[in-house]
Amino acid sequence: MSTNSVYLTQRPAWKALEEHYLTIHSSHLRELFADNPQRGEQLALEAIGLYLDYSKNRITKTTIELLVSLAEEAGLRERIDALFRGEKINITEGRAVLHMALRAPRDQAIMVDGVNVIPEVHAVLDKMAAFADQVRSGDWKGYTGKRIRNVVNIGIGGSDLGPVMAYEALRYYSDHNLTMRFVSNIDGTDFIEAIRDLDPTETLFIISSKTFTTLETMTNARSARDWCLRVLGDQQAVARHFVAVSTNAAEVEKFGIDTANMFEFWDWVGGRYSMDAAIGLSLMIAIGPEHFRAMLAGFHAMDEHFRTAPFERNLPVLMGLLTVWYSNFFGAETTAVLPYDQYLKRFPAYLQQLTMESNGKYITLDGSPIGYQTSPIYWGEPGTNGQHSFYQLIHQGTKLIPCDFIGFCQTLNPISPHHDLLMANLFAQSEALAFGKTAEEVKAGGTEDWLVPHRTFVGNRPSNTILAERLTPETLGKLVALYEHSVFTQGVIWQINSFDQWGVELGKALANRIIPELQSADDPQLTHDNSTNTLIRRYRAMRSK
Ligand code: F6P
Repeated sequence: MSTNSVYLTQRPAWKALEEHYLTIHSSHLRELFADNPQRGEQLALEAIGLYLDYSKNRITKTTIELLVSLAEEAGLRERIDALFRGEKINITEGRAVLHMALRAPRDQAIMVDGVNVIPEVHAVLDKMAAFADQVRSGDWKGYTGKRIRNVVNIGIGGSDLGPVMAYEALRYYSDHNLTMRFVSNIDGTDFIEAIRDLDPTETLFIISSKTFTTLETMTNARSARDWCLRVLGDQQAVARHFVAVSTNAAEVEKFGIDTANMFEFWDWVGGRYSMDAAIGLSLMIAIGPEHFRAMLAGFHAMDEHFRTAPFERNLPVLMGLLTVWYSNFFGAETTAVLPYDQYLKRFPAYLQQLTMESNGKYITLDGSPIGYQTSPIYWGEPGTNGQHSFYQLIHQGTKLIPCDFIGFCQTLNPISPHHDLLMANLFAQSEALAFGKTAEEVKAGGTEDWLVPHRTFVGNRPSNTILAERLTPETLGKLVALYEHSVFTQGVIWQINSFDQWGVELGKALANRIIPELQSADDPQLTHDNSTNTLIRRYRAMRSK
């Protein structure tokens, strides 16, 4: 049996971690900091412009050594090499996983099936840049000769979350004369509210779909085409108001979009890893090609750091291993991502697909059922808003919730005193979570005895703090790639395929079966379970009332 096929919980490092956990779980962060006054400086890592303070985790140096041994036993080094070599590590779909090629410099060579893909990647980036410049300058005209003032991206999942997250994150850098909208939901409300105040003669739709068959996207795309043609009349107008981003030229053509206006990408780019591909076209139009390329450079810097840094000094590896530590040894079920920056308001939503669609799996690579926990649930909101809603539970609830705090030392919108107040709150929250407030401290403040337990904070609640100088396109690229590679690290330890998503298929297939049952004029023969049959009948009866 090779080291790689050893079941995770049978590995020597796993067993050592189980033993080690018994000593750690009773230690309090207060003691760990008291024992080592330099802990905050020592358990921190600065690389490529990101500073990770991981000292407020329930770990010692031994924990990190053992977790690194676990990564070595799991063959993480070989898996990273296989990933970057373009091997078909997405075995259930027979695909390479090469989102790193999307941000590699022009002079690099990355091979897929014996072909260097970098020239194609840059050819598409150049085509996107030329188009983005045309739209931004007003040279790209609508059918009636007016300039484009509104850009609507229609896509869902990876064809929506990346662009919308990054657009919001980099809004400061965007052309404020352009109105950007993102439509994803099949609920008609999403489309109607997005176009309510737009003029079709000044609107460009980007239909973003890797497959170009996704129900939600194609339904919204058809509604958009109808809406445009109602005003513009002529089918020819589609060419001036619709472009496509896809791997499926045949379907794009069938829809009526000229393939000259199609921006392609490749099957070795997973949907949730595609924001650097042409799926980022709407973002590039908003922020301009130069900023987009700066973002790619940030991604690439993190790729290189992940590929080359030793595990104990490797940001994504450390973060991935800490997630394993809490999920598998402490039984933590969720991770909160708490960006202290309003521009990152969609970052947690973006991370939900990245992390949970990647690692929400109960089958190992070799098809066996898994007897340990895999991906935690990721969730979060920007600080300080979350403090006034769910932080109560993080501080005094019965669940252990590891938190990632993210902050920037410089604000893009300096109106005194906001930024210092924002950052004071970030630092205060991780301090309160780690150290809490003892009953003695509460009593010393004059609290009556009966109230003391209510006002006591046990602390010992773990967090990472990620600090960067400023939210720039480059920093955003580094941050996203940090989580991408952390997800990969977790998947390798858990022995799963982080790059397929079979779990979304069943619901799609069942919906396709139910659609005609809702649409048929006559009462359909329903052969579902009793609950589903009853719900369908009730819906059919009530919708026309
Ligand atoms: O349903 C899940 C999914 O397949 C995601 O993985 C993907 O990002 C999304 O749907 C959209 O797919 P497409 O880009 O092909 O429309």
